[in-house]
Amino acid sequence: MCLLKVLFVLVTVAAACAGVCNGGVTSPFVRKSQPSTCMPIDTFPPPPGYNAPEQVHITQGDLDGKSMIISWVTPLEREPNYVIFWEANSNNKHKVYSRITSYRYYNYDSGYIHHATIKGLKHDTLYNYQLGTGDAVRRFSFTTPPKVGPDVPYTFGVIGDLGQTYDSNQTFEHYYSNPKGQAVLFAGDLSYADDHPYHNNNRWDSWGRFVEKSMAYQPWIWTAGNHEIDFAPELGESVPFKPYMHRYHVPYKASKSTSPLWYSY
Ligand SMILES: *[C@@H]1O[C@H](CO)[C@@H](O)[C@H](O)[C@H]1NC(C)=O
Repeated sequence: MCLLKVLFVLVTVAAACAGVCNGGVTSPFVRKSQPSTCMPIDTFPPPPGYNAPEQVHITQGDLDGKSMIISWVTPLEREPNYVIFWEANSNNKHKVYSRITSYRYYNYDSGYIHHATIKGLKHDTLYNYQLGTGDAVRRFSFTTPPKVGPDVPYTFGVIGDLGQTYDSNQTFEHYYSNPKGQAVLFAGDLSYADDHPYHNNNRWDSWGRFVEKSMAYQPWIWTAGNHEIDFAPELGESVPFKPYMHRYHVPYKASKSTSPLWYSY
């Protein structure tokens, strides 16, 4: 009886959806039938300058949008290990030091991976930030999200399974060219490095450079997919999610989670 009732409800919901939720054709996009080809690994070269910070990406650093985690890689030296940031309409500069991590995966050694958490930001405000020194200074900016409320507009893009093929580029550029997007909810499967021989982790670096032009300027909200597992005991790599967890930090403690693989806003 009870089961029947549940089934009935499901059928009703499905029927209602068929009528109300039929969006029809919303995009002229038609998926190609042939597999897509990877872009060459040097398609997005490192930025110029000695030890220049690269693969810059940001993500929201707390529950209500007053914090940002700034992440980047310095390829050769640990320092400079800080971010300088300031409100766009002010000259009052602040400095926050990064936590540095690095890892080895099979025959690959990562650069110095930096994560700096900026706190005490104002809502809905444009900030500039600067990484690197000397001839390798790089500047970026981001806008904090508005204060949480019942009727506050904020526009998310939703992307998953991006990878680094020519089709990935098309997907990414399609999002990038739309000025409405303020943040991305990323549904997992970032670089697809694990599809390359020995999970070639240089493909994590090339991916970071590929997506930087969006990710350095607006928060991308991460979650891991199966392509982040990188569990390969045959290569001596039996710690799951190792590259992903070193590279893509998330504010899991803010939602009282005990694991970076689970968090909420
Ligand atoms: C990626 O897409 C952009 C925009 O369409 C294009 O200008 C660029 O040449 C593409 N890059 C590659 C490697 O195909």
